[in-house]
Amino acid sequence: MSYAIIGSGNVGAALAAQFARSQIPVGIANTRGPESIAPLASELGALVTPMSLIDALRANIIILAVPFRAHSLVAQAAPDWNGKIIIDAMNTYGVSPEELQGLASTEVVARAFPGASIVKTFNQLPAKLLAKDPAQDGGRRVMFVASNDEVASASAAKLVSDLGFAPINLGKITEGGALLGMGAPLILQNLIKLS
Ligand SMILES: NC(=O)c1ccc[n+]([C@@H]2O[C@H](COP(=O)([O-])OP(=O)(O)OC[C@H]3O[C@@H](n4cnc5c(N)ncnc54)[C@H](OP(=O)(O)O)[C@@H]3O)[C@@H](O)[C@H]2O)c1
Repeated sequence: MSYAIIGSGNVGAALAAQFARSQIPVGIANTRGPESIAPLASELGALVTPMSLIDALRANIIILAVPFRAHSLVAQAAPDWNGKIIIDAMNTYGVSPEELQGLASTEVVARAFPGASIVKTFNQLPAKLLAKDPAQDGGRRVMFVASNDEVASASAAKLVSDLGFAPINLGKITEGGALLGMGAPLILQNLIKLS
């Protein structure tokens, strides 16, 4: 399984740090090109590879860590999304419910990536907390996962676990996944699963 993070800002860098800490290779891309990510990559080590957007989009699992509206630009950068898993780590800051046309934001993302399986996760913690070691107080920091596709959800949950978090499956996007929307109850909770 290959992984890429699109976005090298607060969330992209936090996730890249988790991949590096967990010794899992990952590509990372932004709008400004691989050179702009070189300082972050040299800080995190050889497993974090700066890439062009086109190259990063070849990964099996692609994490969107871009401003919400930018997802459609990312979607236009590849001709075909069949077989890909897209992880929506975005929140809808500044986006009105009217703009979402009454849909859950992850449903809007799914429409932009036809053929891909979409999973919502990594959106619920502030970037500074997301970057920290998920091992805390004898347990692991919880990361909720929601998807309409059970196979994709399981793949994303495995990644969440491999990065050190405790995945909790919320089921489908419009069911348990609704608890991960802006202002919803499972945003900014910092829960620890003891086990
Ligand atoms: N900040 C938080 O604490 C937090 C927590 C949870 C979720 N979120 C969500 O996570 C997402 C990212 O937030 P952030 O704070 O990390 O934002 P950010 O610091 O502004 O970083 C955004 C990144 O997206 C890249 N980008 C923008 N448009 C792109 C495009 N068309 N193609 C490729 N890359 C593109 C930018 O590239 P350049 O570097 O080249 O400009 C930048 O690296 C947002 O949806 C936000 O709502 C944020």
